[in-house]
Amino acid sequence: MRSNNRLVVVSNRVPPSEAISPERSRDMPVGGLVSAVKVAMQQKGGLWFGWSGGSTQRRSSDQPEVKDLGGVKLATIDLSEDEVSLFYTGYANRTLWPLLHFLPSRVIIRRDLYRAYRRINRKFAEALCALLEPGDIVWVHDFHLFHLGQELRRLGWEGKLGFFLHVPFPSADIFSILPWAGDTLKSLLSYDLVGVQTERYLRNLIDSLDTELDGTYTDGVFTAEGLSAKFGVYEIGIEPSIFQQAPDDRVRSPMEKLSISTAPDHKIILGVDRLDYTKGIPQRLRALERLLELHSAFRGRVTYVQISSPSRTRVPEYIQEKEQVDRLVGHINGRFSEAGWVPIRYLYRSFPQHELAELYRDADVGMVTPLRDGMNLVAKEFVAAQRDDPGVLVLSRFSGAASSLVDAVIVNPYDIDGTAEAMYRALRMGLSERKRRCSAMMDAVNKHTATSWSEAFTRDLSET
Ligand code: UDP
Ligand code: G6P
Repeated sequence: MRSNNRLVVVSNRVPPSEAISPERSRDMPVGGLVSAVKVAMQQKGGLWFGWSGGSTQRRSSDQPEVKDLGGVKLATIDLSEDEVSLFYTGYANRTLWPLLHFLPSRVIIRRDLYRAYRRINRKFAEALCALLEPGDIVWVHDFHLFHLGQELRRLGWEGKLGFFLHVPFPSADIFSILPWAGDTLKSLLSYDLVGVQTERYLRNLIDSLDTELDGTYTDGVFTAEGLSAKFGVYEIGIEPSIFQQAPDDRVRSPMEKLSISTAPDHKIILGVDRLDYTKGIPQRLRALERLLELHSAFRGRVTYVQISSPSRTRVPEYIQEKEQVDRLVGHINGRFSEAGWVPIRYLYRSFPQHELAELYRDADVGMVTPLRDGMNLVAKEFVAAQRDDPGVLVLSRFSGAASSLVDAVIVNPYDIDGTAEAMYRALRMGLSERKRRCSAMMDAVNKHTATSWSEAFTRDLSET
């Protein structure tokens, strides 16, 4: 990208201005999109436009609020409570989210939700249009804003326009459940470049385009109804150095603060997820229960630490998921606790990334076992944080990360016995095997970083 081309990032979620500074990230909204885009924005500068995360009871204003943070400008709009409920809680999180994560039985189809989604995409486009300058490179992120490109084109934007999907793309049979599948796919053809996380998601997306539209696919370009867009794979990553900084010896480590022993004869298993039903937390807890049933020698000698950051707390399916996790934690702790030992330490809150780095480092086993995940940055962060005596990553085959972290212990999270066995194997793995696996995974983490991801995408977009 030429330096005089400003990068304009558009995403539903924009972090608060304090979060752009790495030291002050405690209240930052949690999620892979913000983690990776933040790195790109800190490096390249530019404009980041989206929803403030707030809602008003009044009719929302279309006038963005702009904060100039030096190299980065944040421009946000508010939504009304109705808009949040129909667009964000409704269509984005109850229709598209489960659909794209291969969970059709959870999908809610309602025409009023789809109409609101289209309306809000138009509203985003109108508010953004006023801020655009000739030569800008506009990069739209994620499933909340599929139609934004189409709306921008309708408003006359002729400059570069790219789209990246952070989440999975399901098989054509699943996607066709959406009554608006054809319209949604056609809207992608308004972009110059569309990126996804893995080859498999790209195959699924092209298959859906083929199924729903009468078009052709040649040399990575899909053409239909007089429109065409280029499609490609851009694996998202992390900035490893963020997770490799030496801990501050003057401050107690997060495990110490939680009074969890890091002594060599005591093992720690760690899970870090947004509290989301795609993350497979209940299945993982059942696997832990199975481990403690089958291998009683570990009772009293292993602590499972689960960090669940609150997410989408007004969405009914998330409320149910929380209740289920609360119940399971209570059940397992009630069943196995002994004097001086509780098997699960459950923390329903978010941690800043420098504290996560220490938690990852102190863990013997990292459990990243989503039922389906676009990539899963926690898996890469866990690997980056390891040192001379590395922990073992147990990773779901249904995460995008499994396509490059092939040296993890790969599991099928639906298979509770299999996951329990994998935990057992990970807990007993010798140092040389742990080192070999970790170093191979570290090569993969270094190959696809947040920087290389955003550079590759913006370069290809500039060249389209
Ligand atoms: N995260 C965080 N604090 C927490 C939990 C998670 O900052 O308490 C961050 C984590 O470091 C990672 C992101 O949230 O960068 C989660 O991204 P991931 O791709 O694993 O999953 P997503 O939440 O996007 O589905
Ligand atoms: C996933 C999605 C992101 C989203 C994040 C957090 O990573 O791909 O688009 O921002 O979850 O979810 P939230 O609903 O809080 O933005």
